[in-house]
Amino acid sequence: MYEANGSANFNSIFRLDGKVALVTGGSRGLRLHTATAFLLAGAKKVIISARKAEGPQGINQAVKKLNRLPGITGKAIGIAANVANTEDIERLVGEIKKTDDKLDILVANAGATWGGPFEPTPDWSSKKVLDLNVRGVFNLARLYVKNRPCTPMLEAAGTKENPSRIIITSSTAGVTVPHVEEHGTIMYAVSKAAAHHLSRQLAVKLGPRNITTNTVAPGFFPSKLANGLIEILGEDIAGVMVFLCSPAGNYINGVDICVDGGVRLAQGRQIKL
Ligand SMILES: NC(=O)c1ccc[n+]([C@@H]2O[C@H](COP(=O)([O-])OP(=O)(O)OC[C@H]3O[C@@H](n4cnc5c(N)ncnc54)[C@H](OP(=O)(O)O)[C@@H]3O)[C@@H](O)[C@H]2O)c1
Repeated sequence: MYEANGSANFNSIFRLDGKVALVTGGSRGLRLHTATAFLLAGAKKVIISARKAEGPQGINQAVKKLNRLPGITGKAIGIAANVANTEDIERLVGEIKKTDDKLDILVANAGATWGGPFEPTPDWSSKKVLDLNVRGVFNLARLYVKNRPCTPMLEAAGTKENPSRIIITSSTAGVTVPHVEEHGTIMYAVSKAAAHHLSRQLAVKLGPRNITTNTVAPGFFPSKLANGLIEILGEDIAGVMVFLCSPAGNYINGVDICVDGGVRLAQGRQIKL
């Protein structure tokens, strides 16, 4: 069809050439796969951010790995920041503004979890998950610097035909009721449900400013195969992220995509009454 009407180049609809992306929590786990995929898809710069710069799980080792990827033309850089902390978000944006006046893609991925029995839940644990998974994501989207709204960094990058992107990493825990007993993750699940609705709010608020917002919700069930599953899930997540951020996803705004092989729909099979 693309060839027939000559309106687009099919080879470029999954490309991210020239794009600048910020991936929070990109130093390890699922989002290192995302940063990898963005560079392989042609992104000009991928900025990864997490709290730790040094050590085997810090940003610096991840940046080294990313910049060694074969065949890439873009580069990875790392900036340490705690994105649960508003001042640190302001500093992070300020750092990015020193070299870039626009941001095409913001992946708000850094997340915290906590699990345990219901009654003794320490109050700090609820604050921790809500501060990072909800309030931090909201503040990151606002991207305030020196009291000036900095959403314009995303706005400066987007056009009606090719909007800039916010992707919030949620969890299937935000659309199901996964664990409620000894290892209950009630406030984590609540925070992820809030992330879904935050995404819809931003989709409506920022759509007219040529910024789309969507949610990717990974599912994961710990098992003997855990490590292998994380590897496979990482690749699946990377594919969805590139799809949403590339021209193929230009017209997608305000959707939730669960990446769990449909497991959330079959949870009834795993519950003993
Ligand atoms: N893995 C799964 O099965 C799964 C399933 C559903 C949803 N998710 C979601 O996917 C996202 C990533 O999970 P993951 O499994 O990749 O986690 P992970 O391996 O624990 O990685 C978390 C990343 O976030 C960073 N981080 C944590 N707190 C931060 C903070 N306050 N400020 C900045 N960076 C911070 C970590 O680095 P530092 O510690 O150095 O800060 C690390 O880079 C989370 O939002 C999680 O809820 C994961």
